Amino acid sequence: MRTYSSRKRNPVPPGDDSQNPPSGNPCEAPTSKRKQLFLETQSNRPTKRTKNGTKKALQEDEKPKQKSLIQMHFCIDKSVIRECPICRLRYTQGAREDVELHRAHCNRVQKGLEWGREEEKEGYGSTIVEVEQRVKLGNGKTGRIIMFPADVNGKMGSKLSTLLETVNLCLSSPALDQATLQASKVYLFLVSEGSGGRTMERIAGCVVAQRITAAMAVIPPTSSASPTHSASVDIGGVFCYPEPLPTPMGISRLFVSSSYRRQGIANRLLSAAASTFIPGCTLDPKKGQVAFSQPTGDGAKIMQSWGGGGIRIYEE
Ligand SMILES: CC(C)(COP(=O)(O)OP(=O)(O)OC[C@H]1O[C@@H](n2cnc3c(N)ncnc32)[C@H](O)[C@@H]1OP(=O)(O)O)[C@@H](O)C(=O)NCCC(=O)NCCS
Ligand SMILES: [Zn+2]
Repeated sequence: MRTYSSRKRNPVPPGDDSQNPPSGNPCEAPTSKRKQLFLETQSNRPTKRTKNGTKKALQEDEKPKQKSLIQMHFCIDKSVIRECPICRLRYTQGAREDVELHRAHCNRVQKGLEWGREEEKEGYGSTIVEVEQRVKLGNGKTGRIIMFPADVNGKMGSKLSTLLETVNLCLSSPALDQATLQASKVYLFLVSEGSGGRTMERIAGCVVAQRITAAMAVIPPTSSASPTHSASVDIGGVFCYPEPLPTPMGISRLFVSSSYRRQGIANRLLSAAASTFIPGCTLDPKKGQVAFSQPTGDGAKIMQSWGGGGIRIYEE
């Protein structure tokens, strides 16, 4: 039985911390007991009646009393499925294929995929545009931001597919269809790892920005328009005014590998997208020119901090 699955995408309104992955190694988390013993004593069972009455009953009575027996049953507990607290993937513990799939996925979620020289060579100077160089991170490391169309083929296309598979699994989101990919640009934050001649780059974060036409403005939590107001629309826990407003850019995917979070990567990626998505026109999130598709709890926080409450919501 293959039970490789992930948590349901369950967006949380701004201010909810519950979706933050706890620290610590998930692989060492205690597991539930596999087997449980259920006891059923003889005295609980219905007694058999004998046909020819008293004599037999007397004989039975004369016999030395036998110690009551205890019947033991093994009950194989089916709950060997566990959820990793870092990547939130649910998998069957003990099933080799599941465990290996989880290990590979978890590694990508934490460290990011490798960005190889092959992909770089293929797209450099043609499909890839270097948007920013030598970006300083909060932890002192540096990185760069590249951008390319989301419908690329070849080595870059297959790297992007693997990346989006990981992101979709984490967000419990469906795969982006071809029409959406054709209307989208991908922004990657690449971080150099290693030293000397053995340096390599990793994809620490990504944004998929999509051309959209309309989105809805979010009702501020402090607004007198109550969230339960009949005219409001609930998009995964975020309450919006129902009128679609002209909006040029939607963020369909936003992801930063867990070991690179809170270093400003998402912030830089979103700013890079806002300033280059439409050539020659910098978009201002505070003026409602950027929308997010159904945000997660973490997404709602960055929506607030980067967009200052001006980010809109659209449905993919
Ligand atoms: C949401 C996510 C992309 C943020 O990436 P990040 O690189 O850590 O974000 P940044 O470092 O740029 O954060 C910028 C600001 O946003 C706010 N913020 C971001 N993540 C936050 C969090 N988990 N809790 C509270 N505030 C947060 C903070 O104000 C932060 O500034 P600070 O670190 O100086 O306090 C990342 O947590 C992630 O990939 N989460 C899992 C996938 C996901 O939920 N994606 C969102 C889909 S809508
Ligand atoms: Zn994991």
